[in-house]
Amino acid sequence: MSTFRDTAEYVRNLSEGEYILLKYLERYSKRFERVSLRLLKKVTKFSDEYLMAIIKRLSKEGFVIYFEQPYESVMLLTSGLDLLALKRLSDKGVVAGVGRQIGVGKESDVYDAIDPSGTRITLKVFRLGRISFKDVSRKRSYASIKLSHKWIWRNYASAKREYSNLSMLYQRGVSVPRPIYQLMHILVMEALDGILLHDLREVEQPYILFRSIMYEVKKTWDIGFVNGDLSEYNIFLQWDSLKPILIDWPQAFSRNDSNAVDLLRRDVQNVINFFVKKHECDSEKLKNIVKELSLSLVLE
Ligand SMILES: Nc1ncnc2c1ncn2[C@@H]1O[C@H](COP(=O)(O)OP(=O)(O)OP(=O)(O)O)[C@@H](O)[C@H]1O
Ligand SMILES: [Mg+2]
Repeated sequence: MSTFRDTAEYVRNLSEGEYILLKYLERYSKRFERVSLRLLKKVTKFSDEYLMAIIKRLSKEGFVIYFEQPYESVMLLTSGLDLLALKRLSDKGVVAGVGRQIGVGKESDVYDAIDPSGTRITLKVFRLGRISFKDVSRKRSYASIKLSHKWIWRNYASAKREYSNLSMLYQRGVSVPRPIYQLMHILVMEALDGILLHDLREVEQPYILFRSIMYEVKKTWDIGFVNGDLSEYNIFLQWDSLKPILIDWPQAFSRNDSNAVDLLRRDVQNVINFFVKKHECDSEKLKNIVKELSLSLVLE
């Protein structure tokens, strides 16, 4: 019954041999679901006994599964991939410890962590293609979740894309979390202190808050991008200023995309709908704010 945190703890005990094996497993798991023992023997040059001892240990800890049939092979599990990524992040001096889980998204798990200086950071771990957790308890399923090899690349690509989108937006002054690092399927970013727009109970000046959100949408559009997945779940508000920070950017679209205007329209409409429903705002008044920001093309 291990968790992501247990995986992070294990990084400290990881032996050189285990690390070498994980590196090869990752490399070949991008191509095969199971990596044959023969191949592992050849590339690691480990003795049979040593190799089997390592595989046994990693499998006991729930990082890999060993198969005897139809041929001797090893399958890397999600937790094994996490272990390798966390080991690398630790060696690079990016992550020193992992804390509690703060978010479960459709596409990722988000964790609290600290860097070597003790500063809080946030890890977004991409989990595209994972088997649905709905029927199983999270704790039970974490370590045993099988990694579909086809998804490794997708997750790496998403993490990379979100990192590069955040870097560009952050540099150009849009209010987004500061990206720190990206490695494999993990994005490391600044930890935000605040609350999701969705979870905010009441707000004294909803129109001002709405305007400050639209201002960020407008800046993004002027730079040439649109989030495409904007909603009350992807707008974070900083304590106590309620400064909006737009999160969740792996899918951002270019303004040159043929449907960019539609996406912008939908993003804006999502936020309008939310303010009308939850904060009883007048939709015409909200639309006027959008117009004032010269985003009127979205209201046609
Ligand atoms: N930098 C951060 N600091 C603090 N909390 C964060 C940070 N980034 C994300 N979170 C939390 O994690 C949750 C999920 O993050 P995000 O929306 O980026 O992931 P997601 O998997 O794409 O979610 P979904 O697909 O459900 O929209 C957020 O709703 C937020 O509560
Ligand atoms: Mg989200």
